[in-house]
Amino acid sequence: MTNEFGPLSVPRRLLMGPGPTDVHPRVLRAMSTPITGYLDSAYFEILDEVAEMLRIVYETRATTMVVAASGSGGMEAGLNSFIEPGDTVVMCSYGHFCERMILMAERLGANVVPVRSEWGRAMDPQLLVDALAANPGTKLVTAIHAETSTGVLQPLPELSRLAHDAGALFMADMVTSLSGCEVRVDEWGVDYAYSGPQKCLAGPPGLSPVAVSERALETVRTRKTLPSSWYLDLDLIDQYWGPDHVHHHTSPVSMMFGLREALAMALEEGLPTRFQRHASTASALRAGLTALGLELPVPAAERLNQLTLIQVPDGIDDNAVRQQVLDDYSIEIGRGLGEFRGNKWRIGLMGHSCQPGNVLAVLSALEKVLPAHGYEVGVGAGVAAASAELAKHDIRVP
Ligand SMILES: Cc1ncc(COP(=O)(O)O)c(C=O)c1O
Repeated sequence: MTNEFGPLSVPRRLLMGPGPTDVHPRVLRAMSTPITGYLDSAYFEILDEVAEMLRIVYETRATTMVVAASGSGGMEAGLNSFIEPGDTVVMCSYGHFCERMILMAERLGANVVPVRSEWGRAMDPQLLVDALAANPGTKLVTAIHAETSTGVLQPLPELSRLAHDAGALFMADMVTSLSGCEVRVDEWGVDYAYSGPQKCLAGPPGLSPVAVSERALETVRTRKTLPSSWYLDLDLIDQYWGPDHVHHHTSPVSMMFGLREALAMALEEGLPTRFQRHASTASALRAGLTALGLELPVPAAERLNQLTLIQVPDGIDDNAVRQQVLDDYSIEIGRGLGEFRGNKWRIGLMGHSCQPGNVLAVLSALEKVLPAHGYEVGVGAGVAAASAELAKHDIRVP
């Protein structure tokens, strides 16, 4: 019988969208390590290393572990574990992923109180003050630190403080923030944080590293009803990661090896150096985009370094430009989501993709592609502005 499929063939891309991002060859090599059993004592040692490194990147002494599902799985594991039907959950919403969280909480039968604010802007904490005052007995407050759909850094420490003042647990999405900018789980009082390796950690997609406070774990253990999802029950996952290693699911061994190596690389670089690499590289990208006359809608003080939101110029076909950048340069940039669909682009500089050379490559591609679609730019202007900015910084790529 002939096999018409042949070997796997995937085009080589430069990933400059909202994630996944490029993965360092060292991480890819770790993922091709022969697998062990998930109940092998040698594997438990790797899990302990992962948990220890997560405590460092999350800046916490709380329990850390990995949910064997993508970032949305970490999101759903928290909601599934903390919420019982009828519980009041106040949910800050200023982007696409916040709305996803709301949909999940509604499915769990929570009394969902969305606190919606303008996309592309940092939320005014007073909105949360008002919502908590109107909803005494709120069990959980949720927020996203770095909304990848809008490119905004949200005032997480303040939101967390308000949640605690109201006696609620605080759950934070750190999918795009972890290891790309400062994250202080203990100092900020975050009870449950979840992330994904495929952004600033530069690991493989499909896992969700989490940090859970003792108070939050106690909430799960003392529920009146069992969580509706067995797979996403944080107490059961904790029992596998804990000293007894109680059998739960078959751990995704190869991806865990990749995450382990990605974490080790982040710590070798040093978190402050890594944050600075993201900041300096992003400033060069912004300088280049601005020199091309493109509008960056997020106010300067609220911008993420990991993800830059760009207004699609009037009359320009969002999709056609991105497709040509992909076809001609093999560079992926992101489209807008939700209300930003069709009118915003998103360029990511995360993890291993966050490199000076990539900034120059994407600007050069835009200088060629944009005029072909009717938006004139001075060829070389973006690259020159970015180069001038890069010259001010000492950026070392691991
Ligand atoms: C802020 C944020 N939260 C959650 C998710 C969902 O993660 P995943 O796609 O890994 O399920 C994403 C994905 O891009 C995200 O950017």
